Amino acid sequence: MRYTLVTGACGGLGSAFTKIFCEDNTPLFLTGRSKDKLASVKERLGERGSSVETFPCDLRDEKSRAAFFAYADDKQISFDRLVYVAGVDTQMAFEEYDEQRIVTQTRVNFEGAVSFIKSFLERSPLDGTTEILCIGSVTAILPEPYFALYAATKKALEYFCMALRTELKGKAKVTVVLPGGMPTREDIKENIKAHGGYGAVSAMDPEKVAAKALKAVKKNKRRVIIGFWNKLTNFGTHLIPMSWRIHFAAKVWKNTRKDFYAQ
Ligand SMILES: NC(=O)c1ccc[n+]([C@@H]2O[C@H](COP(=O)([O-])OP(=O)(O)OC[C@H]3O[C@@H](n4cnc5c(N)ncnc54)[C@H](OP(=O)(O)O)[C@@H]3O)[C@@H](O)[C@H]2O)c1
Repeated sequence: MRYTLVTGACGGLGSAFTKIFCEDNTPLFLTGRSKDKLASVKERLGERGSSVETFPCDLRDEKSRAAFFAYADDKQISFDRLVYVAGVDTQMAFEEYDEQRIVTQTRVNFEGAVSFIKSFLERSPLDGTTEILCIGSVTAILPEPYFALYAATKKALEYFCMALRTELKGKAKVTVVLPGGMPTREDIKENIKAHGGYGAVSAMDPEKVAAKALKAVKKNKRRVIIGFWNKLTNFGTHLIPMSWRIHFAAKVWKNTRKDFYAQ
């Protein structure tokens, strides 16, 4: 039996993925930071008949990542799908940042993903059936003033996935999806509201995003922007000079903020 490994499994989008996997009884190995949160997710999914393993992991920490895979090895667990959902978002002026916000976003959004992909591949069949899905962000289509570090980490993840896909051709499929706003946490809901009409039309429920992302994996897509308005924005940004694009992005984010660490 091979497991689908989901990071960020207790979060808004992660829960949407586990719900879908649970419906077709996919064996799941779920991770997040909190043992208690994972235990309650396991209980809930177990009641529906899913085979669920959990183990906490702080994705910022290489020792914690090693402990996670040591546990998997101990239990002789192997995988055939990785869904890297975990991510940390801080949207504010860079001058307001502290060290924790720099380190956490960089490590969880990029270093943790790269490290998990490596360890995951070592425990997966490289016969073309293995799937890797990473969650990027539509913010990565531009340099985003006031969301600069987050957008840059998501761009790094996107480029890494696209390059790796070619290296792994015939061995494993790699897809990166770029969602726009999803009303998951309260601060994200406020942030979407503060962006007015555009926020309202471009946001999408995490359940829909998860379903579309899995469809993209099934079709073995390289990179998929989720949602009509986000696709249109991406197209539109290519028609204007970079200096204008960055200017508009600054206007969008300058007067709003959200912060994973304020939760
Ligand atoms: N919501 C949006 O508007 C939006 C838009 C575009 C892209 N995204 C991306 O979509 C993904 C899911 O976002 P969401 O809206 O579902 O946010 P969320 O509810 O805050 O979920 C984030 C997840 O990341 C995990 N995480 C954070 N720090 C971690 C760490 N140090 N170690 C391990 N896990 C850690 C959290 O795990 P625990 O709290 O369980 O420990 C949580 O499950 C993220 O990658 C995000 O960047 C979100």
